[in-house]
Amino acid sequence: MDTGTAYEFTPGLPRLELTQVGRGTPYGEVLRRYWQPIALSSDASRTPRQVRVLGEDLILFRTGRGSPGLLYPRCAHRGASLFYGGVERDGIRCCYHGWVFDTEGRCLEQPCEPENGLHRDRVRQPWYPVHERYGLIWAYLGPPDRKPLLPRYDVLETAAADESLITDGSGVGGGGPAFLDFNWLQHWENVLDPFHVPILHARFSGFQFSPEMALMPEVQFEYTACGVRSTQRRFLGDGRTLRRVTEVMFPNLRVVPSPRLKAGPTNILGWVVPCDDESFQIFTVAKDAAPDFLIKLRSTYGGKAWSELTPEEHQRMPGDYEAQKSQGTITLHGDDHLITTDQGVAMLRRMMAKQIRNVADGGDPPGVIFDGNDVIAIEGGNFFEDQ
Ligand code: FES
Ligand SMILES: [Fe+2]
Repeated sequence: MDTGTAYEFTPGLPRLELTQVGRGTPYGEVLRRYWQPIALSSDASRTPRQVRVLGEDLILFRTGRGSPGLLYPRCAHRGASLFYGGVERDGIRCCYHGWVFDTEGRCLEQPCEPENGLHRDRVRQPWYPVHERYGLIWAYLGPPDRKPLLPRYDVLETAAADESLITDGSGVGGGGPAFLDFNWLQHWENVLDPFHVPILHARFSGFQFSPEMALMPEVQFEYTACGVRSTQRRFLGDGRTLRRVTEVMFPNLRVVPSPRLKAGPTNILGWVVPCDDESFQIFTVAKDAAPDFLIKLRSTYGGKAWSELTPEEHQRMPGDYEAQKSQGTITLHGDDHLITTDQGVAMLRRMMAKQIRNVADGGDPPGVIFDGNDVIAIEGGNFFEDQ
């Protein structure tokens, strides 16, 4: 007899094919077909820095000539970590026996060897291609013969005279902690969950955004060429309608316009970049006249920052972090009951599964550009319209 008690309940399983990010995993291979932001430009310096991205540990540095490099940490000689390396004009020198590698892993010097290493060109330190744009370092961790162009985004390409780009990598999602210690997909698919806004961000945490955001919206979800879009209409009671458009674009871009309702096309884009299966970072680029635009956007809880809350306040005023982390370090998708308002989440999971098959079958996933126009059009924004 099944009476629904917890005694009779067997917890379900996570959908690992959607959540795992390592090399050779189903969605990990989809993620690897795109450029990913991995650090702020200012993170690449003469001091080598460890970065963890898509389950891989790598060393980021910037040569004396100013070129960023991203190398596998274990030195090709006998494995000392390049974290302890010395950055020079053309590359990084291993601390143990002084081999020097350039940003594409070529061995330039083997100083203990006769004639500086006659066969040093036989050695290649594993490396990844990197680029800099919008104040971020971008890396391509996929198969070399499928490397697309690093795309541009129309909303970041044109700026008014007083606007500049503001970049953030602290990973604050909804005013939570800087280090996000749960699976990236719980955050990414939340972009297609506009119904939680009036509940979590108004009823529970107090009005975290503008009062208009507390209204329950009418929502439409649709597939786009590159992902899923949600259009939310809120009837403001003064003859105007707020049409708010949010999008996810493959493989991990979130287009969430200002929840404080700056009007017009979005001036913010964010990439939900997995460090590994159980943690992620959010890299955000905003275009605004106010240098502290992103800081002002952070949610507060009864006037306090997330980090200032007591345990009791965290419980009484939960925000995105509490909701998403408490789903589990990797949520148990098998236990979900997806219903009408989860349509966007269901559509996204379906599209991810389809693209996993596409990539496994040798296809190119949506939105990768190999030549021609490299500008991607963004539809997201807050649009106030007369009824
Ligand atoms: S271990 Fe790096 S040079 Fe020997
Ligand atoms: Fe939220």
